[in-house]
Amino acid sequence: MTEIPATMFAALQRHEGYSGTAEGPAIADAADYLDAAEIPVPTPGKGQVLIRLRTASVNPSDLHFIKGEYGQPRIKGNPAGFEGCGDVVAAGEGAEGLVGQRVAFVVALGCSGAWAEYATTDAINCIPLRPDISDDDGSAQIVNPLTAMAMVDIARQDGESFVVSAATSQLGKLMVSLGKDLGLKPIALVRRAEAVQPLKDMGAAEVVVTTDEDAVQQFAKISAALKPRVFLDAVSDQFSEQVFAAMPNKARWISYGKLSSELPKLTMMGQLIFQSKRIEGFWLTSWMMSTPPADQMRVVGEVQARFADGRWKTDVSVHLPLRDVVSGLADALKKTDGKVIITP
Ligand SMILES: NC(=O)c1ccc[n+]([C@@H]2O[C@H](COP(=O)([O-])OP(=O)(O)OC[C@H]3O[C@@H](n4cnc5c(N)ncnc54)[C@H](OP(=O)(O)O)[C@@H]3O)[C@@H](O)[C@H]2O)c1
Repeated sequence: MTEIPATMFAALQRHEGYSGTAEGPAIADAADYLDAAEIPVPTPGKGQVLIRLRTASVNPSDLHFIKGEYGQPRIKGNPAGFEGCGDVVAAGEGAEGLVGQRVAFVVALGCSGAWAEYATTDAINCIPLRPDISDDDGSAQIVNPLTAMAMVDIARQDGESFVVSAATSQLGKLMVSLGKDLGLKPIALVRRAEAVQPLKDMGAAEVVVTTDEDAVQQFAKISAALKPRVFLDAVSDQFSEQVFAAMPNKARWISYGKLSSELPKLTMMGQLIFQSKRIEGFWLTSWMMSTPPADQMRVVGEVQARFADGRWKTDVSVHLPLRDVVSGLADALKKTDGKVIITP
């Protein structure tokens, strides 16, 4: 039987509810949003589990959330952090079957977050991990991989090429390599020239550097040749709008992230009318609510297989000790091209 202490260390939300801002995920100092504290270890309720943390990934959604800009309100005094990997050490009624298992998890609404020595969540938000999945991959096993699977599935139904912005993000890389494996032609948008070759090696048919002066013209040429009909967009700024405007008839601009704080202006309304173009959003939470559990389990199995055999991996920029999150997170996030992974 695992000894569970009475208290634990955690990075707690400083604020309540929504902020009303739309600045994007950049933070200057995590202390503006988080407090370090020793608090009681939470008790799992009915259908919930208590997880001893091994690793927690820092996703842009976590940063939107602590800033009060995410799709659910903050709870002041509750540990932050949506996603992690750990060992189930206790369970409420009906969830006892998971005790003793190493799981990937996402924190359910109102549960105790992952940036803490212990977290709680609903048992259905846990995925028992194969032994050949590392703790780092386990901490980034749900949010990005399931989103990649779901969105590339949307893209493949609309032709053989699709566009991915912020392609150096973890999710961007997952989608580019998955697209290549499925015989598709991903067009990657990046903002650093040194990312071009790695993205091509990963499977991008074309890569456009968005900071090039003629980036829109470059994209327009590629678009005319490859005819992508789906734009999977994590940036959602004015450049995105220009990309969408350069796409062919029936193109779909699917915004799933707001990495840029710039609010785009629509310049081509006629295309919505005369070219049957559409602007949409994608949120994994809605996908999970609308996708039958058996289909989700099939996708989960495929995700673990891809990480286990090396087709996918989590690039890690920094392992950040939990006790350094409040003081060190903003600096840790300055390193690009990899995830910050929190360790207890
Ligand atoms: N809707 C959903 O259900 C859902 C699910 C999962 C993730 N997401 C979204 O997917 C996006 C990527 O997530 P992730 O975890 O893969 O991110 P990540 O690995 O943390 O990478 C983010 C990368 O995006 C690039 N970037 C940041 N700001 C940018 C900007 N203003 N313009 C262009 N590129 C920018 C940076 O790369 P460089 O420095 O190399 O440019 C940065 O390293 C986020 O927006 C996240 O919120 C949405």
